[in-house]
Amino acid sequence: MERLTAALGREPVWIVSAPGRVNLIGEHVDYCDGFVLPMAVERRCVIAAVPATGDVGRIRTLTLNETTEIELASKPAAGRGWENYVRGVISGFQERGARLPGFDAVIFSDVPLGCGLSSSASIEVAIATLIEAMTGTIIDPLEKAELCQRAEHEYAGVPCGLMDQYASVMARRNHLLLLDCRTKQSRQVPFADPGLLVLIINTNVKRKLVDGEYAKRRAQCESAAKAMGLASLRDATLEILEGARGAMDESSFRRGRHAITEISRTSAAADAIAAGDWAGTGRLMYASHDSLRDDFEVSCAELDVVVDIAGRIGEAGGVYGCRMTGAGFGGAAVALVRASAGRTVEETIRRSYREQTGLEPYLFASRPAHGAMILRRPD
Ligand code: GLA
Repeated sequence: MERLTAALGREPVWIVSAPGRVNLIGEHVDYCDGFVLPMAVERRCVIAAVPATGDVGRIRTLTLNETTEIELASKPAAGRGWENYVRGVISGFQERGARLPGFDAVIFSDVPLGCGLSSSASIEVAIATLIEAMTGTIIDPLEKAELCQRAEHEYAGVPCGLMDQYASVMARRNHLLLLDCRTKQSRQVPFADPGLLVLIINTNVKRKLVDGEYAKRRAQCESAAKAMGLASLRDATLEILEGARGAMDESSFRRGRHAITEISRTSAAADAIAAGDWAGTGRLMYASHDSLRDDFEVSCAELDVVVDIAGRIGEAGGVYGCRMTGAGFGGAAVALVRASAGRTVEETIRRSYREQTGLEPYLFASRPAHGAMILRRPD
């Protein structure tokens, strides 16, 4: 907090925050109208701001030590990298008719960047929350998540689904969020067993090819659905897919098979979690990883190494399940771990991963955290 005050040069008038997320299961199916099961992590993007004269928003990120200045009277032009998350969200609020006052803001985030934990969604949602605080108008949470998703589509050029922004807005402490991406309705699944730990293992392999390959996967899923005469893969079954095999190329077939099986694994995992069946949940996580590696082809050697190490530790050693999380091609894996074995599991994964890849992983455990919050605003 002192850092933010020092960077602003005065006491903040508004402070907001929004979390990153980790997806337990339901990968690459949000844009197929499927189910996803993320939770917010205890890593957040925090923004502190003060009013400023003129029609300009000046935003500085302490994490990257860069500043962007945005004219608030007209639609912002696209910028570079992280600026687009901010510019896109401001543009979304302008389209809704919001009049933004001039402001100076600083951003600090401890969400690891670019490793599948939604650092970008956390900036988008934090900016949206700041605008809500500054204008005094709280918008409908679904509309807020969709506005942030549009920023990603239109400014950052990534045709993402709704999961990340939705989780950053709606997540609740001690709950997973079961989101039905077709109805855009969600259910909070209690997840507070003190005997369990969610461990995030960042391979420290920077995601490569992710944007282009992501768009390609999404297009292949759409073409598989189209070949079956369906609006989305949500309505497909393995039988229908098999029947339409001749009408699509081999990759679309495999992408379709991943989405169909992943959607059913995700509902099964929500049931297993509600029943406290951690071994069953873990098996579904491993099956999800296999499908993402073989059918969806979004894993990488280092992620496979982590999942393999976790599998060898096994339930006896305290690991119920493990899989890559997020878009893939590098980034992080998520493991469900028995809390009492947490320390040993962390050490074993760190050591074996280092031995096998020569790389240093970054690990942290997290409980499900709360979604975006306004921490300070004038009375
Ligand atoms: C990224 C996207 C999400 C989702 C995941 C994969 O995080 O932003 O919408 O598609 O990849 O599950």
